[in-house]
Amino acid sequence: MTDRLQGLSIPEHIAIILDGNGRWAAKHNVPRAQGHRAGCETLEGIVEDCARLGVKYLTVYAFSTENWKRSSEEVGALMQLFRFYMVKLIDIAMKNDIRVKMIGDLSRFDPDIRAGVEKLIEKTSDNEGMTFAFAVNYGGRDELRRAVMSMAQDGTDLMNLTEKDISDHLDTGGMPDPDLLIRTSGELRISNFLLWQIAYSEIYVTDTLWPDFHRTELEDALIAYNRRSRRFGGR
Ligand code: IPE
Ligand code: IPE
Ligand code: MG
Repeated sequence: MTDRLQGLSIPEHIAIILDGNGRWAAKHNVPRAQGHRAGCETLEGIVEDCARLGVKYLTVYAFSTENWKRSSEEVGALMQLFRFYMVKLIDIAMKNDIRVKMIGDLSRFDPDIRAGVEKLIEKTSDNEGMTFAFAVNYGGRDELRRAVMSMAQDGTDLMNLTEKDISDHLDTGGMPDPDLLIRTSGELRISNFLLWQIAYSEIYVTDTLWPDFHRTELEDALIAYNRRSRRFGGR
């Protein structure tokens, strides 16, 4: 832990909307795919930083249910990146005692990507240090829709439905809600991320573009988080 974080509390669950890869690419006059590659490298660093800081859960939004609307060239480049990243993530996870979990609807991905994901999940399933939930083809509304279907299927008593029933049937079932939600690149919106789970998350938005978000910027977010007064509606 560096001096700047001395005495500060570390959120149990950090969620990140990683945004700005495209703007980073435009700023550097390179193709968008290169911005996504740079974003991937940044993600590797942040995953390790969070694990070392003692964060128990890190959830990262990498591809939304709406991102399929992008050009086939960009979607193809992102799929190619996932293929490589799934393999690389095994090493990072094993070195840092990280369990990887996927959230989102994986059924839309090519079979080889799904196989890579399964391997990643299985290989890291006994790790206990930090859970890294990677959100791909994820949408908060789609997740709620699928949760309702699974409740109907498994015989949940819908006439006496509890909030816990809903939480448990979401992709994030078993995880606590995020304490801190970070969005890079300055957009002041949620873009369909974790709609149910962020009810009381502290929101931190920075203008820094995702590929430029490193340890120092993470520390800035943690310092800002520590200044918040979380009341959860009580006094
Ligand atoms: C975030 O970067 C990554 C994905 C959504 C896949 P963007 O690609 O959204 O970057 P901007 O918003 O165009 O800068
Ligand atoms: C949100 O970013 C989705 C991810 C980070 C995966 P977008 O760039 O897709 O969101 P909008 O279009 O700015 O709302
Ligand atoms: Mg964006």
